[in-house]
Amino acid sequence: MAFDVDRVRAAYPALADGYAYLDGAAGTQLPGTVIDAMAGAYRVGLGNSGGAFPASRRSDMITAECRRSVADLTGGRAEGVILGPNMTTLTYRLARTLATGWGPGDEVVVTRLDHDANVRPWVQAAARAGAGVRFADVQLPEGDLPLAQLAELISDRTRLVAVSAASNLIGTRPDVAGITALAHAAGALSYVDGVHATPHGPVDVAGLETLAPDKLAPAPQQVPDRFEQGTLPFADLAGVTAAVEHLASLAGPGPGTRRERILAGMAAAEAHEQGLFRVLLGGLDAMDHVTTYGKAARRTATAYFTVAGRTPREVAEHLAARKVNVWDGDNYAWELAGAFGLRDSGGAVRAGLVHYNNRSDVDRLLAAVAELAG
Ligand SMILES: Cc1ncc(COP(=O)(O)O)c(C=O)c1O
Repeated sequence: MAFDVDRVRAAYPALADGYAYLDGAAGTQLPGTVIDAMAGAYRVGLGNSGGAFPASRRSDMITAECRRSVADLTGGRAEGVILGPNMTTLTYRLARTLATGWGPGDEVVVTRLDHDANVRPWVQAAARAGAGVRFADVQLPEGDLPLAQLAELISDRTRLVAVSAASNLIGTRPDVAGITALAHAAGALSYVDGVHATPHGPVDVAGLETLAPDKLAPAPQQVPDRFEQGTLPFADLAGVTAAVEHLASLAGPGPGTRRERILAGMAAAEAHEQGLFRVLLGGLDAMDHVTTYGKAARRTATAYFTVAGRTPREVAEHLAARKVNVWDGDNYAWELAGAFGLRDSGGAVRAGLVHYNNRSDVDRLLAAVAELAG
């Protein structure tokens, strides 16, 4: 079934405020079903996990359903889904745990394409363990991460390769399957950051038993619980399940398992985003006063650009006055902003498309940027 952006937009109460939400790469708005699921969880009553009474059982059911939903979203197994407050915290926890087994002579491989949350935790953990760090550089001006370079960096000293499935700054989608295959062939682990990639198209992870993270003595020993410190935000987890159901509905009602409907929905969303992105990039590249960054062949619908004679913040303020939300800065892709030479000049402007954006959002951004000529 065709992607019906008007139907999708109607599911998002926040979009009624008339703004063009092109800031989604840092977090999207919520469908009404997600808001209702979160509020509904609190209304019915929740308890902490593991108790004998119904409110506690409800929390445990919400948690179990959330793991099944994330497994369907990613193509993984529910038992492998570790829930936590955010990607940065989870990565620091895992880096600390893994690094207890590292020492001098060991190496980790990180990339300058990645968000810093998939760089610094590994760099700092390696330094504490006395292990080395090797950086994969981004090929400029395209913003690609060539597989051949990873092949040179990965060796029998490599213990872990950390790479992003998509750049949150310029959208580049590296050959993650190729990179993880190189890591595994060298006997190393791979850690893939899917934060930016997952909302933009279908995701498929191939299927932690041996790790011993810091945990409280009475906390459960089994995986995934062993990795989850403290009480989970149960109402948020109910929201995650509703969000996954929403993604499964993007291509309209259809037959099949939830996983199959998610794949169809995300493929339809990706096609919609990429169509709009061609208009957005074509419009920006046609303006003499605009410079765009990144030209990878495979990328998410994420544009990063500067405007001659204006700081990124000035451009973002100009757009905000015309009801267009965009980000300015390095967006924590600190190494990549440095590689582009933008780190000390306020970064650039990021306009990211997600499935609820429409042609009017794109046209409004292009018209507002065009006003800044000369
Ligand atoms: C690609 C990418 N990785 C990691 C992060 C960090 O995520 P969190 O804020 O959940 O720690 C972000 C945040 O936007 C991101 O875009």
